[in-house]
Amino acid sequence: MSIPTRFLRHPLRTGAIAASSAHLADALTEPLTLGLADVIVELGPGTGVVTEFVLRRMRPGARFVAIELDPVLADSLRTRFAGRRVEVLTAPAAALPDLVDAPVDAVVSGLPWTCMSRPDRYATLNAIGAALAEHGAFTTFAYGHAAWTPPARELTGRLAEQFTHVTRSPLIWRNTPPAFVHYASHPRRNVRGRRPDDGMDETAGTDGTDGTDGRIEARTLTPEA
Ligand SMILES: C[S@@+](CC[C@H](N)C(=O)[O-])C[C@H]1O[C@@H](n2cnc3c(N)ncnc32)[C@H](O)[C@@H]1O
Repeated sequence: MSIPTRFLRHPLRTGAIAASSAHLADALTEPLTLGLADVIVELGPGTGVVTEFVLRRMRPGARFVAIELDPVLADSLRTRFAGRRVEVLTAPAAALPDLVDAPVDAVVSGLPWTCMSRPDRYATLNAIGAALAEHGAFTTFAYGHAAWTPPARELTGRLAEQFTHVTRSPLIWRNTPPAFVHYASHPRRNVRGRRPDDGMDETAGTDGTDGTDGRIEARTLTPEA
């Protein structure tokens, strides 16, 4: 199973025409000091490029959960990593706090933020903030060519609001397309879970609300294969 194949079938859900390169996977996992983490979560593992780096860097006793929405990719990850120390769950990333109850030390994300609906983006960021331990850290990537788009700029702004330390890597050219890594740590506990503020997203409710009810979305989904 490959990312280009899944992109042709579900372009918005997949959000990329190619899997991340080893250079990007390295940059996503290196800042997280995974060797010290007890609980690690990967969101949107796809075909497992980043998963492989996490497995190499984590310590043997740690818990590692990978949450993938696409059931076909999730099944193929279970086959690829059978016998390795990763639990693959088929679920939306926004359900994270319901799926992993221990405080999470590190979250690494391959989610296609700019293709997600605004309520989904907010629910997922809120879920990450809620699941992370006080010292917890989070990395995610963004494509350089899309950095100017409103969803990408909104993501950058939300990270600064939600976390005490936020940095961004230089552009990693050895990836298709070139991308950079956002690193965010120490979630602010005094920031309330936010909801989309204009209520006019494409998935907004017909009553003029944003359709999320302001809560973390923890849907039970049977995603289309
Ligand atoms: C851009 S691909 C990245 C794949 C892989 N991490 C990599 O770097 O090559 C995005 C992945 O996120 C998954 N995904 C999209 N929305 C998701 C969601 N809400 N929850 C969990 N996974 C999601 C897609 O199915 C896809 O596997």
